Amino acid sequence: MSKIIDGKALSVSVKDSIRGKVQELASKGLRRPCLAVVIVGDDPASRSYVKGKVSAAEYVGIDSPLIELPASITTGELLAEVQRLNADPSVDGILIQLPLPEHVDENAVLDAIDPSKDVDGFHPSNVAALWLGRPCFVPCTPLGVIKLIESTGIDIKGKNAVVVGRSNIVGKPVAKLLLDRNATVTIAHSRTVDLASVTRQADILVAAVGRPRMITADMIKPGAVVIDVGINRTADGKLAGDVDFEAVSQVAGFITPVPGGAGPMTIAMLMENTLQAFYSHSIVPEGLGVRS
Ligand code: GUN
Repeated sequence: MSKIIDGKALSVSVKDSIRGKVQELASKGLRRPCLAVVIVGDDPASRSYVKGKVSAAEYVGIDSPLIELPASITTGELLAEVQRLNADPSVDGILIQLPLPEHVDENAVLDAIDPSKDVDGFHPSNVAALWLGRPCFVPCTPLGVIKLIESTGIDIKGKNAVVVGRSNIVGKPVAKLLLDRNATVTIAHSRTVDLASVTRQADILVAAVGRPRMITADMIKPGAVVIDVGINRTADGKLAGDVDFEAVSQVAGFITPVPGGAGPMTIAMLMENTLQAFYSHSIVPEGLGVRS
C-alpha cells in the first residue's frame, strides 16, 4: 500500500510561507502583489479553476482583480485588454484562463502578454528560456509536480522518469524540469507502442494525458512515485484522475490523489510565481526578495 502524497497540505504550507512574505512586505510599507485573472465566457470548469485561484490569492494577501469577458469577444478586443494590463504598473502577473473560445487566436493572445508578467510561463520567450536553462517563469503545474515528488524525500537524480502526455502546459515542461534534476526522462504519448512496458520502467511516473483511470496497476513498477495530473469528469459527474488510484496505490510507493494532489499545488505555485513577478517589478529592501 502506497503513501499518499497530500498535495492539499503541501499547498497550504507553500501558501503560508508566501502569506508570511506578503505580510512582511506590507509591514515595510510596500504595496501588495497583484495578479490579474482574466476569464472569457462561462465554461463551468474554467469558472471553478478561476475561483480557486482568486481565493488562494485572497488567502496569501495577493490582490486578484477578476476580469470577466464575454465569450463573444474578438481576438482584437482581448489583445487590447492584455495591452491595458501590460501597461498597468500595479499589475504584476496576468493569468488568462485557458481554453479560450474557438474563434479567438490563443497564440496571439499568449504572445501579447508581457513576459515579465507571464506567471503561467506560457509566453514563447519564457518557454525558450526554460529550455535554454535561463531564468524564466516556469509553468505552475510542472513546478507543483516537482514539489510533490521532492516531498517524498526521494532523490530524482539518476532515476527513470516517465511522463505520459506531451502538452505544452504540463508534459513537455515537466520533462524538462525532471531532466534539469538529472533524471533519465522518457516522454510517452498516445502513439507510444506498448505503453505499459515503458511505464513499468518508471521510478517516477507523471500522468498528464486527460483520460480517466488509463494508468492501471499492471503499468506500475513496485515502489514507484506516481503523480496524477489528470482532472477528468466521468459520466456520473465525479472527478477522476488519469490513474486508477485504488489499484495503483496497492503497487506504487507514493501516489497523489485526485482531487487533493497536483491541483492545489498548481495554484500554490501560481501564487509563488506572482510573488516573484512582484519582486522583479518592485524595489524591495534587501532580504525580502529571495526565491525559496
Ligand atoms: N487551463 C488549464 N490549465 C491552465 C493553466 O495552468 N493556466 C491557465 N491560464 N489556463 C489553464
